[in-house]
Amino acid sequence: MNDRKIVLITGATSGIGKAAAIAMAKSNYIVVIHGRNQEKTIQVCEEIRSISANKDVNFVIGDLLLMNDVKKVAETFISRYGKLDVLINNAGGIMNKEREITIEGFEKTLAINLLAPFLLTKLLLDPLKQSEDGRIINVSSDAHKLAAKPDFDDLGMTKNYTPLTAYGNAKLFLIWITQHLSNELKQLDAHNLTVNTLHPGAVATSFGVKSNLGVFFNIIAKLARPFLKTAEQGAETMLYLATSNEMKNISGKYFVNKKQAIVSNKYYSQKHEELIWNYCVEKTKNWL
Ligand SMILES: NC(=O)c1ccc[n+]([C@@H]2O[C@H](COP(=O)([O-])OP(=O)(O)OC[C@H]3O[C@@H](n4cnc5c(N)ncnc54)[C@H](OP(=O)(O)O)[C@@H]3O)[C@@H](O)[C@H]2O)c1
Repeated sequence: MNDRKIVLITGATSGIGKAAAIAMAKSNYIVVIHGRNQEKTIQVCEEIRSISANKDVNFVIGDLLLMNDVKKVAETFISRYGKLDVLINNAGGIMNKEREITIEGFEKTLAINLLAPFLLTKLLLDPLKQSEDGRIINVSSDAHKLAAKPDFDDLGMTKNYTPLTAYGNAKLFLIWITQHLSNELKQLDAHNLTVNTLHPGAVATSFGVKSNLGVFFNIIAKLARPFLKTAEQGAETMLYLATSNEMKNISGKYFVNKKQAIVSNKYYSQKHEELIWNYCVEKTKNWL
């Protein structure tokens, strides 16, 4: 049991995360799926056990819009498992046409796509350090190239919010904190740990389906659906980063179609990377 690798996948109750959980359960990993809805998560957990014939599929529950819940997810995981080999920060998505904030005061797109993966990773660093080959995988998007337009004086987008820009910004910042963490891990001599990010492709999942994005985007999304990847195809790059021997010592990089890809440098500077890192530290400090 102890020799087997353990993976925690957030947002594994549908889409790409669920497809990856099924594949890793079939590969005999101990799989911990995360979901926000208890009933749905239990049902998906049973489904994955049955499809994979792997009884070591378990779950943790939490609404990752809330840092309180992110902390609970980490604590629950730590109370049950001594180490973590692969953390896949997959939960995320695009929010509604109108800007919304959580009861903790964070704009929702930033909360789920940036602050939650930042905090969960920080809280799980100790069990990850127990792994011989610990891997952190952050699911970003090529939307960081076209949709991002950050206002560094208004990261919570109180002034010019659109769901697409908020999403592009959050996924861009996720790439920057991935690069930053990779350098921090090297400085901490945590050479057993890598952190990378990826774009899964344009995938036919529930992504954006429940969001109120306005009539135009809803029509485009419907028309594009037949041309998109399946969830299983969308999970391929994630699985490559999680399991491939070729990825063993590679860190701080961005992947598309299982290949290293170029990150947009339009808004990049070392100063901006640090600003976003410090923003995440500041916003999550009550839970760290
Ligand atoms: N699909 C694409 O074309 C595409 C492209 C680029 C990047 N991505 C990224 O890929 C990742 C997976 O997306 P997907 O396409 O598989 O979408 P999906 O089918 O909507 O799956 C998203 C998962 O995240 C969970 N989730 C959403 N909000 C949550 C919250 N507040 N707390 C906890 N869990 C939450 C969902 O739970 P429920 O099952 O309860 O809804 C679901 O399990 C996301 O980070 C997305 O941004 C997707």
